[in-house]
Amino acid sequence: MNIAIDGPAGAGKSTIAKKLAKEMGFIYVDTGAMYRAMALYVLERNMDPSQEAAVCEACDAVDISIRHQNGEQQVLLNGENVTGKIRSEEVGKTASCISAYANIRKKLVLLQQKLAADEDVIMDGRDIGTCVLPYAEVKIYLTASVTARAGRRYDELREKGQMCDLKEIQKDMEDRDYRDMHRKESPLKQAEDAVLVDSSDLTVEQVIREIQKICQERQ
Ligand code: DC
Repeated sequence: MNIAIDGPAGAGKSTIAKKLAKEMGFIYVDTGAMYRAMALYVLERNMDPSQEAAVCEACDAVDISIRHQNGEQQVLLNGENVTGKIRSEEVGKTASCISAYANIRKKLVLLQQKLAADEDVIMDGRDIGTCVLPYAEVKIYLTASVTARAGRRYDELREKGQMCDLKEIQKDMEDRDYRDMHRKESPLKQAEDAVLVDSSDLTVEQVIREIQKICQERQ
């Protein structure tokens, strides 16, 4: 069984998918981490992410793989574990930019489909229900208002002791939403057979219960 969770940045996809996977005994696959690893490669080489041809050529030979350690996904970039290096806003922004390129998507979608073919997975991203796993048994489109999403990201960063500005976070989020939803290749949108879950006024536990209910109905 495969469960696809798509939605914009900050909707709570990874928090929910990780917990759900643990409860259901599924493998959790965070596809955003793969685009982030590719983005890290581009940034570490001081390349301009907007140069599609150069970025795609450089990324062609890059090896991205994932493994699981104590239930946590680890991302390997050419054999190096880069899990701890890919969570910055800069990497997220660059990932959003280079994920618009068809060649990058083709490579990572293949890897994601291979992972889902071998295991029961809960996979989160932007195009899982529409493109990566069109036959997933359960599809969720998890969203929340931009103010709720920005507020969560703000709290998260403050908790880590990082200085940040709520307005700036919200503006970055709106820009990222726009890029992810308006690109030509597999833009973020709700699959026709996906169930919409709005987490703006729900706790993590309430969202999990709601998705479990949907899974039971589909089963
Ligand atoms: O979910 P995230 O913030 O880690 O994703 C980073 C970027 O990667 C996101 O802005 C768009 C891109 N992405 C994508 O295009 N397709 C996916 N399945 C996952 C992420």
